[in-house]
Amino acid sequence: MPNPMNETDCKIYICCGTACLAADTQDKLKKIIKNLKPEAEFRTIKCLGKCETNYAFQYMEKKYSTKNKEKIEKLLSGNKNL
Ligand code: FES
Repeated sequence: MPNPMNETDCKIYICCGTACLAADTQDKLKKIIKNLKPEAEFRTIKCLGKCETNYAFQYMEKKYSTKNKEKIEKLLSGNKNL
């Protein structure tokens, strides 16, 4: 199981699918994550199937879609029950 505190596990895959692009959520999401986890490295990924909510990203092999800072902070610290 990946360790969320390990630097090699700081890769965040931001959805670059059409719905997220059209909603223009990627830069806003990156900004939220960067404020919470400055060491985060961003990559892009195809549609994550969460088009209706946008703000889609994948972290440690799990898919999320939220702009809620508290939820993002919890999942970045390893809380998978979100
Ligand atoms: S386009 Fe982002 S989840 Fe589908």
